[in-house]
Amino acid sequence: MAERADLVVEGKLIDGREARIFIRDGRIHSIRGPSASSGGSPVYRAPAGTVVGPAFVDIHVHLRGLKLAYKEDERTGTAAAAAGGVGVVVDMPNTRPPLRDPEALALKEESLHRLSLVDYAVWAGIPRDSRYLAVLARHPLVLGFKIYPDDLETPILQAALAEASRLGKIVVLHPEDPSLISECRLGRRGVECRPPRAEVEAIHRLASRATPGLRVHVTHVSVPKALETATSYGFTVDVTPHHLVFNSEDEARGCKFKVNPPLRPRELVEALTTAISRGLVDCVASDHAPHTVEEKSLPSEECPPGIPGLEYAARVLLTLAHRGIISYASVWRFYSTRPAIVAGLEGYGCLSPGCRAALVVVDPDREGVIGRTTRDYSKAGPGAWEGYGYRGEPVALILGSEIIMENGEVHYDAAWKEAMPTTVSRLGRGLQGRSLVS
Ligand code: DOR
Ligand code: ZN
Repeated sequence: MAERADLVVEGKLIDGREARIFIRDGRIHSIRGPSASSGGSPVYRAPAGTVVGPAFVDIHVHLRGLKLAYKEDERTGTAAAAAGGVGVVVDMPNTRPPLRDPEALALKEESLHRLSLVDYAVWAGIPRDSRYLAVLARHPLVLGFKIYPDDLETPILQAALAEASRLGKIVVLHPEDPSLISECRLGRRGVECRPPRAEVEAIHRLASRATPGLRVHVTHVSVPKALETATSYGFTVDVTPHHLVFNSEDEARGCKFKVNPPLRPRELVEALTTAISRGLVDCVASDHAPHTVEEKSLPSEECPPGIPGLEYAARVLLTLAHRGIISYASVWRFYSTRPAIVAGLEGYGCLSPGCRAALVVVDPDREGVIGRTTRDYSKAGPGAWEGYGYRGEPVALILGSEIIMENGEVHYDAAWKEAMPTTVSRLGRGLQGRSLVS
């Protein structure tokens, strides 16, 4: 019996099966053998040599927008996501205005709704007024709270942790103890002003205040000792591609390599790489942190920290897989399946009936050089990644029944205009399939 489908995706799945994926109403309806009839439904055939997997899931991105739209906005940031094979992003709250009151959240929701080309959710900031805690934590777009270094010293933190724990929300820690870090002045390296110990101590500080049952995720862990400390408390962790590829010597190449936490000495980078190759981290997140090209051209002691990476994270991971540092299967584990579970993005990072139809097609053998063979959709450009030679590239991103990106080209008119849902349980609201007028 032929199935009615909005789209049928045909190709080789990441587990090696040849299959036809039937998509209906924004979700995977069924997965059948390669000879199953499409029943006249439109068919997308993944090119020879490619594999089809669940779209990548990035739980740490800064889309900026609002008053920081001159650095990046929800359109350019999610175009970079689409070009990187990322089907859902979780946006960070250090926006202007900061995402820590209902008014700012409403503004952010409106921008995401209007501009995002991929699915999205957000982390809320720790509010300054305890009356906002419940409103923020209960908002469907909010997966949990982000704790910045300074928040470790705010009295309201305890109430925020209690609220998160009560509502089953997650807290995400930026692990740098504010009493142990300073801004680097001329000639000092990041690792001196923001030492590894600051990372470890921040984790201890949060652990000492965590209420039972609270789910803590520690983001951009950059040193093995912090990894050990976090996991000893049962916290989940992510690492960034830039902390796996660059080291503190790269800081001499200018502000493009300035980031918090800073790039670490070579031996620590190697130890972090060994940790990921042994499967000791939960996820990878890009920490896509765009600033303007002008800002990043300033001297390092004056310029803002942050490295853009949404368009490149999957390419970097696929390159690590090509080099045998991680397996191809773990590219999806670290950057799709596990982050979806860790962040509570139900229905993402999976490839079975009922899952969100968010699919990426990857050519593991396609080679290129960032800044030359990439489109660089972010307003920040390729930044630190310029010149990085990769092997393995997302060649298509499918969301619902739309092909959002193909061969690096983002199809603006194919993206949903309707706001993307945050979880599959809310798919009914979002999926109306209107086209987006760009
Ligand atoms: O390097 C960084 N940039 N670290 C942060 O924590 C913030 C980020 C940004 O927003 O630019
Ligand atoms: Zn960040």
